[in-house]
Amino acid sequence: MSLDIITLGNEILREKSLPVDKFDEELKKTVDEMFVLMKYKSGAGLAAPQVKISKRFFICKIANDCGRVFINPEIIETSQETVELEEGCLSLPGVWANVVRPASVMIQAQDLNGKIFRLNADNWLARVILHEFDHLNGTLFVDRLNDRIKNKVLKKYERINRK
Ligand code: CO
Repeated sequence: MSLDIITLGNEILREKSLPVDKFDEELKKTVDEMFVLMKYKSGAGLAAPQVKISKRFFICKIANDCGRVFINPEIIETSQETVELEEGCLSLPGVWANVVRPASVMIQAQDLNGKIFRLNADNWLARVILHEFDHLNGTLFVDRLNDRIKNKVLKKYERINRK
């Protein structure tokens, strides 16, 4: 495995990623490796910036669903209805928090061949999509918390991950 997951503090996680312009074998290989890594880490989603690739794509695989790849994604629409669900992130190991986000989302993206598709998602799939999409803009789930809870979660994160 040549890919590694970077964690909070690495500046790549805070960058706005650039569009993918080459739909080549290297992209396919990277996506394959990301699926292996995500499974190994028991994650439900993984965005390219988390493996030090500042490009606009992410993958997800939630229970009983197929593995999905979203390249150059755009959020077309989100529901007014929101829902609070517990999130974690492979780039912030050891901490979880309830995050409020839209209950459903319509996303448009390209597949590995560059073909555009749209998908309506709700429940956990919507949640993972919105979380991973945030990574492409340098946003982490803790940024979606109010300051008090965010500080609490970050303190816990530091305590757990202190060397
Ligand atoms: Co994450």
